Amino acid sequence: MKVLTLHGVNLNMFGKRDPKQYGTITLDQINAGLVELGRELGVEVDSFQSNFEGAMCERIHQALHEGVSAVIINAGAWTHYSYAIRDALAILSCPIIEVHMSHVHAREAFRHVSVFAEVVKGQICGFGIDSYLLGLRAAVSAVRQA
Ligand code: DQA
Repeated sequence: MKVLTLHGVNLNMFGKRDPKQYGTITLDQINAGLVELGRELGVEVDSFQSNFEGAMCERIHQALHEGVSAVIINAGAWTHYSYAIRDALAILSCPIIEVHMSHVHAREAFRHVSVFAEVVKGQICGFGIDSYLLGLRAAVSAVRQA
């Protein structure tokens, strides 16, 4: 089983960016945590980050060709307005889990909306790196139950 983790705009700056919201963990550390949990669960975890919306859409298209089993996505601010990424995600038939490091519903109103909500299996937010790790567990169990 191969799970693809997608990190969107500005998430390469985790570790340097707004530590009150995101702590000091870096994206590399998050990815390493996912690979380690993946090993425990017996799944391969791949990751991709981009600050370019079109590149993110193309990586999602590629996921269809690769036949990935599940996708975990933290699209950063794109979550709140990118219909392009929403439509790309809608092409996939595998389970998609939306995650956020911060508790988006306890923040500014614009962060309360996810344009991905209709096309994802579920959302996890507010738990820092654990949002990703819980997302991986949810993805694996969704695939195993299907
Ligand atoms: C985020 C929340 C988004 O609102 C924000 O734009 C981000 C990070 C999170 O992980 O908490 O870039 O997705």
